[in-house]
Amino acid sequence: MRKVEVKAEHAYEILIGCKWQQELAPLMKDRSRVAIVVSSAMRSRVGEIEAEGTEVHFFQIPDGESGKDATVLESLWGQLGRAGFTRSDLVVAIGGGATTDIAGFAAATWLRGIDWIAIPTTLAGMVDASVGGKTGMNSAFGKNLVGAFHSPIAVLVDSKWLETLSDRDFAAGLAEVVKCGFISDREILTLLSGKSLSEVRSSKRLTEELILRSVNIKADIVGVDFKEGFAREVLNYGHTMGHAIELHSKYQLRHGEAVSIGLVYIAELAHLKGILSEELVGLHRSLLSRLGLPITYPAAAWEDLQPFLSLDKKARGKALRFVAISKIGTTLRLEGLAQSELLKAYERVSS
Ligand SMILES: NC(=O)c1ccc[n+]([C@@H]2O[C@H](COP(=O)([O-])OP(=O)(O)OC[C@H]3O[C@@H](n4cnc5c(N)ncnc54)[C@H](O)[C@@H]3O)[C@@H](O)[C@H]2O)c1
Repeated sequence: MRKVEVKAEHAYEILIGCKWQQELAPLMKDRSRVAIVVSSAMRSRVGEIEAEGTEVHFFQIPDGESGKDATVLESLWGQLGRAGFTRSDLVVAIGGGATTDIAGFAAATWLRGIDWIAIPTTLAGMVDASVGGKTGMNSAFGKNLVGAFHSPIAVLVDSKWLETLSDRDFAAGLAEVVKCGFISDREILTLLSGKSLSEVRSSKRLTEELILRSVNIKADIVGVDFKEGFAREVLNYGHTMGHAIELHSKYQLRHGEAVSIGLVYIAELAHLKGILSEELVGLHRSLLSRLGLPITYPAAAWEDLQPFLSLDKKARGKALRFVAISKIGTTLRLEGLAQSELLKAYERVSS
């Protein structure tokens, strides 16, 4: 097992390669009440959790994005209230990023913040959603518009969960790993080089190494920039076009799949601007496509993508802003781009 320390509003540890039940037991000790928040789809996989002297309540929520909703939050508050949760009690979120986001937000808002623990069960949750202290939900006006920074007291990463994850969700999680490689860690790219999705999946050692390296990068960045200044913005590499595509696809594409196309798009844009070599653009394409991730999007979608692009949260006022790289590990901002340049880069990812 390896540990990564995160310094946020409080310091906490991410345990990678742990056995979650073993690590959770001592953390539940001395708590009068523990709420296990789990989605209906994951409930049977979690099994029973007991702790002597502790009331353990299971709160089930809808699976995926439908769980990140105000009505679900309200129902969690109701269940916490009825069970008499106090400031010294604990929330434990077990599931993908959607579950850890809403359960973390319930913990952030109940009594103005009680302790919570994240047990991510998807690769995206392990390398991204459960690290960094962002909790929240969707609103009628868009995704993740309501939320709070409220770090867990521990994150327990048990790669055993990944055995039942679909290939599609596993690959989607790897898109964020590839992103981490390009912005900060060449070794990630070396480890993934020439590997197919099944080759990565079949090696627990490789998977845990990739999780560790990605978590280290996010933890370091969050440690210096908890509330999203420029340091944290680099984590959005590939996400400007990625978010636009995710929205345009009406969430038919997984976040990681949209980010994969967004990574190739920004690489092409940086190449067009003379910042990034053709070889590194090729590396984006080859790594992502070997992992089974999409790297193209329909040409006809360009016009419809425009409003989504300007919606991107990194767009300040009307100016569109991208995070780019000039080489592996060197990030910069790309601003003031002409429409013709944006389109030309899009033509290179068009199908
Ligand atoms: N807070 C953050 O910083 C942050 C960062 C990135 C993403 N997110 C959020 O995370 C969410 C996406 O997370 P996700 O990709 O984990 O999606 P998800 O939570 O919707 O899970 C995807 C699917 O995988 C299933 N699943 C989960 N674990 C499984 C397992 N072990 N075996 C089989 N199936 C399993 C779930 O039931 C679900 O149907 C989005 O809502 C996104 O906004 C948050």
